[in-house]
Amino acid sequence: MSPPGKALANGTSARAARPARLELRWRLSLAIGLLLTAALAGAALVAVGNARVAVSREVDTSLRSATASLDLTLSLIRDLDDIEVERVLAKWVAGFTGARHLCVSLDTRSAPRDRCAFPEAPLGVPGWFVQGAEFSEPPVLREIPLTEKTMRVHLEADPRDELREAWVDVRSLLLVIGALAFAVNLCVFLTISFALRPLERLVRAMDQIGRGQRATELPRSGPPEVRLLSEKLGELEDRIARGREQVRSLHLRNLDLQEDERRMVARELHDEIGQHVTAIEMETIRVARMAPEEQVQREVRLQQLRASVAEIHRISRRLVGRLRPPSIESLGLVGALDGLLDRWREDHPDIALGAELDPGCDRMPGDRAVHLYRIVQESLSNAARHARAKTIGVRVMLEGAAVKLRVGDDGCGFDAQGSYRGYGLAGMRERAEALSGTFTVVSKAGAGTVIEAEFPIA
Ligand SMILES: Nc1ncnc2c1ncn2[C@@H]1O[C@H](COP(=O)(O)OP(=O)(O)OP(=O)(O)O)[C@@H](O)[C@H]1O
Ligand SMILES: [Mg+2]
Repeated sequence: MSPPGKALANGTSARAARPARLELRWRLSLAIGLLLTAALAGAALVAVGNARVAVSREVDTSLRSATASLDLTLSLIRDLDDIEVERVLAKWVAGFTGARHLCVSLDTRSAPRDRCAFPEAPLGVPGWFVQGAEFSEPPVLREIPLTEKTMRVHLEADPRDELREAWVDVRSLLLVIGALAFAVNLCVFLTISFALRPLERLVRAMDQIGRGQRATELPRSGPPEVRLLSEKLGELEDRIARGREQVRSLHLRNLDLQEDERRMVARELHDEIGQHVTAIEMETIRVARMAPEEQVQREVRLQQLRASVAEIHRISRRLVGRLRPPSIESLGLVGALDGLLDRWREDHPDIALGAELDPGCDRMPGDRAVHLYRIVQESLSNAARHARAKTIGVRVMLEGAAVKLRVGDDGCGFDAQGSYRGYGLAGMRERAEALSGTFTVVSKAGAGTVIEAEFPIA
C-alpha cells in the first residue's frame, strides 16, 4: 500500500503535496515494538533479580550446612592422632566430590591454595546474566594444626549449576514474552494495513471528484470509520454534482433570459413604439394638409401628437429601466429602490406595498448594492406572480457592518423545501452567498412567504 500522502501528491492540487512521513501502521508498529522491548527489558531485570535471590539462597544453604558438618567433624576428631585426623578429613572432603553447589578442598601445604579455580562463566550462560545474578559469598577456611604441618579445609560456593538452571528458566520466559510481543505487533500491523487499505480507494475517489468525474471507487467495505468517511464523501459528491448541474442550468437560463430580453425589446419597439411612431407620422401628414381655417381640429391633432410622444417617452423609460442596471451610482441604493417600488406600485395598484428603507444603506458600494436591488426585484416579482398577496412589506436595514433585507407577503405561500423549476430563488441565494452572506426563505402553504438575506456591506 502506498502512503495516502504519496497518492495525494500525484493529484492536481499542489496543497495536497506533503513531505512523506512514516505510514501509520509503521508508526504504530514502532511504538508497540518500543513498548514491548521496554517490557521485555523490565521482565529480564525482574527475572535476573529473582534468579539472583534463588541462586544465593540455594548456594548459601549448601555452604552453611557443609560448614556446620565440617565444624562438627572437627570437634569430633579433636582428640585423634594426626594420621587419623588426616584420614577422616580426606574422607570427609571426598564425600563432597561432585557436589552441585560447593567446591571443597583439603590443603596440607604450608601456603593455602588460592580458592577453587572455576571457569569465568558457566557454559551457555551469557555474561550479562552471570553478572546480574551472581553474588559473592565469602569462602570458608578452617585450619587444623597437626604436629608437623597445618591442614586447611577450604569451602567455597559454586553457583554455576544453579546459574545454569536459572538461566534456562529466564531464557524460556524471555522467549515466550518475545514471541508474544512479536505476535502482538504482527497482529496490529496486519490489522491496520487491512483496515487502511480502503483509504487508497478513497484518495483515488477524491481525485476523480476533484477532476469533475463520478467517483467509481468509493469503498463500501472496511471498518466503520472508513465506511462513514466514504458515505460522507458520496454525499459531498452528490452535492457537488447538484451544484454543477445548477450552475449549468443557471447559465443556460441566463442565455435564455438574454434571448427573452431581446425579443421583449423587439416586441416593445415594434408593437408599442412602432404604433405610436406610425400614428405620429400619419398625424403630422394630416396636420400639414390642413387648411389654415381648421384651427380647432389642428389643435386636437397636435394634442394627440403630444400624447403619442409622451407615450413613447413612457415606453422608452420603462424599457431603459428594465434593460439598464438601476442607476445606483447616481441615485444611491435607497433612491434606486424607491424608484423600483414606485414603478411596482404603478404596475400593481391592487397590492399594498409598504417599505422601510434605511438611508444608511447608501454606504454600500454599487457592485454589492446591485445584488440587493436584484433580490428585492425578484422577491417582488415572485410575490406578484405566485403569491396572490394583498400586502407586501419590504424592509432594508443596516445593522453594524451588515445589511439585512426582508420581503414578506401575506399570499398563498409554498413549500420552501420543495424543488422548483424556476431560477429566481436559486439566483437570489447565489447572489447572497457570493457576497459571503445568508439567504433564507420561510414559507408555508396558506401562510405567506418571508424572504430574508443578510450580507456584509463591504
Ligand atoms: N412569494 C411567493 N409566494 C408563493 N410562491 C412562491 C413565492 N416565491 C416563490 N414561490 C414558488 O416558488 C417557485 C420557485 O420560484 P422561482 O423564483 O425560483 O422560480 P419562478 O418564479 O417560477 O421562475 P423564474 O423566477 O425563474 O422566472 C415558484 O414557481 C413558486 O411556486
Ligand atoms: Mg421567480
